[in-house]
Amino acid sequence: MSATETDVRRTQPEGGPTRVAVIQRIVPETPESATYWSTWRDGDGEGYAFEAGQFNMLYVFGVGEVAISISSDPAHPQRLGHTIRSIGRVTNVIKDLRPGDEIGIRGPFGRPWPLHEAEGGDLVVVAGGVGVCPVRPAIETAMRRRDRYRRLILLLGARTPSLLPYQEELDWWLATMERLGVELHLTVDEPEPGWLYGAGVVTTLFPKAQVEPARTTAFVCGPEIMMRFAGKGLLEMGVPPERVYVSMERNMQCGIGLCGHCQLGPYFVCADGPVFRYDRIADLMEVREL
Ligand SMILES: Cc1cc2nc3c(=O)[nH]c(=O)nc-3n(C[C@H](O)[C@H](O)[C@H](O)COP(=O)(O)OP(=O)(O)OC[C@H]3O[C@@H](n4cnc5c(N)ncnc54)[C@H](O)[C@@H]3O)c2cc1C
Ligand code: FES
Repeated sequence: MSATETDVRRTQPEGGPTRVAVIQRIVPETPESATYWSTWRDGDGEGYAFEAGQFNMLYVFGVGEVAISISSDPAHPQRLGHTIRSIGRVTNVIKDLRPGDEIGIRGPFGRPWPLHEAEGGDLVVVAGGVGVCPVRPAIETAMRRRDRYRRLILLLGARTPSLLPYQEELDWWLATMERLGVELHLTVDEPEPGWLYGAGVVTTLFPKAQVEPARTTAFVCGPEIMMRFAGKGLLEMGVPPERVYVSMERNMQCGIGLCGHCQLGPYFVCADGPVFRYDRIADLMEVREL
């Protein structure tokens, strides 16, 4: 599939030009998701840069656009990773794309994870399932700047081992994290034979990780119910409310605060988020109690 000039001109609303990227590699992650690695078509990546936690609007030519977090390292903006779960009209077409196919990219949009606010203290990343994807660029950035954080703690969970993304890279991650003194704790709700790590929901990792609340900044990403319980748990442990952040998803259209599709109470998720202080949006989350 390739883009015509008309395709690209048609999709240039106020959110900036639609650049064209070429898919280079597709890595299956979970039964429903894969990471699409792409590079820019000649010259299209000029001036493109993003921060950890931002998202792009991905345009499948002739089909439509979807908001997808950038899951690759911001230090390499010429090689982009998007981890995409196939759940509907556009993402099911993306599932059928192959290396060599072209995709439109508008962005980057949204407020990033406030990595600088955690500097000098401990950074605790709590992620569940595909929630690991939007926070992975923050993990990679913090690992690259390891000396700026006291403790770097990753608490990652999924329903089952096969629903934990990036397993292809797990050995590399484990070795690098050990070298850098990153504390990694993994858990699944339903362990399977051969699973060597924890069992239980991701919040069961809090006591194991011995988080020191007063020094902690926490980034939480996953299903809303998980973010709600993790956010509440972190506040109860004494992490200051202004230092607990979550990343929200809502249906999006323009991506730039114009259409109102992504409204969440007084906020537009595309422009005021997707990263929010947990205490500012806790009451707006969909699932209030189990
Ligand atoms: C800031 C942001 C970052 C995102 N990052 C990623 C990512 O990294 N990887 C990824 O796979 N997906 C991500 N999403 C979700 C993704 O945008 C939706 O899954 C996608 O729009 C679905 O489009 P579709 O046409 O395939 O499905 P549709 O046919 O539009 O929808 C299928 C079903 O999913 C529901 N739905 C659509 N969008 C959302 C949404 N945002 N949240 C919850 N339910 C929704 C619809 O109501 C419908 O029930 C992100 C969304 C936002 C807002
Ligand atoms: S998607 Fe249009 S205002 Fe957010």
